[in-house]
Amino acid sequence: MEIPWVIEEPTKIKHELLRQYIAAWMKILFSTNKNYGRPQLVTYIDGFCGPGEYYCDTTKASKCAGSPVLVANIANDLILADRQREVAILCIDENKKCVESLQSILNGINTNNQYWQVYHGDFEQQINTILDEIDTKAIKDYPMFFFVDPFGYSGFPMQTLKRILSYPRSEIFINYMVYDVVRFWEQDHAEQSMLELFGTEEYKDVDKTQDAEQRQLFFMNLYCKNLREIAKSRYVMPFRINTPGQGVRPRYYLIHASQHSKALKVMKDNMARVSDVEYRFEAIGVKTTQMSLFEDPGKVDLRNRIKDYCKEQGTISYDEIEEWAYANTNGMGKTIKEALMQLEQEGLIEIQRKPRQKNNTVTTGAQIKFIGE
Ligand SMILES: C[S@@+](CC[C@H](N)C(=O)[O-])C[C@H]1O[C@@H](n2cnc3c(N)ncnc32)[C@H](O)[C@@H]1O
Repeated sequence: MEIPWVIEEPTKIKHELLRQYIAAWMKILFSTNKNYGRPQLVTYIDGFCGPGEYYCDTTKASKCAGSPVLVANIANDLILADRQREVAILCIDENKKCVESLQSILNGINTNNQYWQVYHGDFEQQINTILDEIDTKAIKDYPMFFFVDPFGYSGFPMQTLKRILSYPRSEIFINYMVYDVVRFWEQDHAEQSMLELFGTEEYKDVDKTQDAEQRQLFFMNLYCKNLREIAKSRYVMPFRINTPGQGVRPRYYLIHASQHSKALKVMKDNMARVSDVEYRFEAIGVKTTQMSLFEDPGKVDLRNRIKDYCKEQGTISYDEIEEWAYANTNGMGKTIKEALMQLEQEGLIEIQRKPRQKNNTVTTGAQIKFIGE
């Protein structure tokens, strides 16, 4: 493979989301740690890191940064603003040329003397060695962000994701190539990889009589379910990357798995910010049994989902509804509030606001009571 290679369009969008999320993530975690008097230390681990730079287009006239370099640049800016901050960056790639290229770029921009190291080898093997080392150090209790961005569906077993998610403040961003899973799941050579990917044999239960769209939905649901049930991720949010001409069958999804509702909220809010471009991200509302994968998220009836939830709960706080809706629907701050206001106008719920809260909004502190049918 030629290094660097020409970047693909969807990768640019993936990078935009990563850039925005990581910047917000670091700022929040630095200030939380500072407020609690803890060291301002975060770790970014790029499991399939690539060469660190790409040609921006086929003219090869200019170069764009790869994922670890984007993160390193953000780290530099934030460390310049406060010298107490530390960002460890650990990268893995099985391609020696990628390792050499990236290490040299990182060395060139490591102006704040941080631990920025590129490891050569297979992800599965290297990450477990790195985690054995992390287990002996204090950083295991500090925030760690893992980016898992392989070329295909193999090499990042569910059991390894489980180990990563067992750290109290870890989160993972996975590039899940579901299109390839649909294409190759039945082939003998893919069996071991599929077993590792899903962590169970359940993937074989896919209904072969169904069309490719439905099989894709099955493999998406199963993967997200297993991230929750096997890898023990509390919050799992898939983002569909819409590819023009590809309709409802995109090549891949970016899946965010985390243990904190705040992490999910920041990720979803940033997704919304970068979504008005050609290759869009969409949060796929996750229902208990099935994701609304093929519904146009703009048309998903958030109001009905929230109404049903309020009915189920009787009386519930605004924060609880917001947390539930972030994790289970396409809703976000503004749209969740709008749905609640509409339900209030329809006389289906009563919003009990705190004394100084305005009537034309609903926010933290308010209690919601279902009073409709
Ligand atoms: C999609 S590229 C990574 C792009 C990079 N994350 C970015 O956004 O700039 C995938 C990389 O994974 C590497 N790779 C593939 N299989 C691997 C494995 N089993 N372990 C480690 N690296 C692997 C490839 O050499 C390639 O550089």
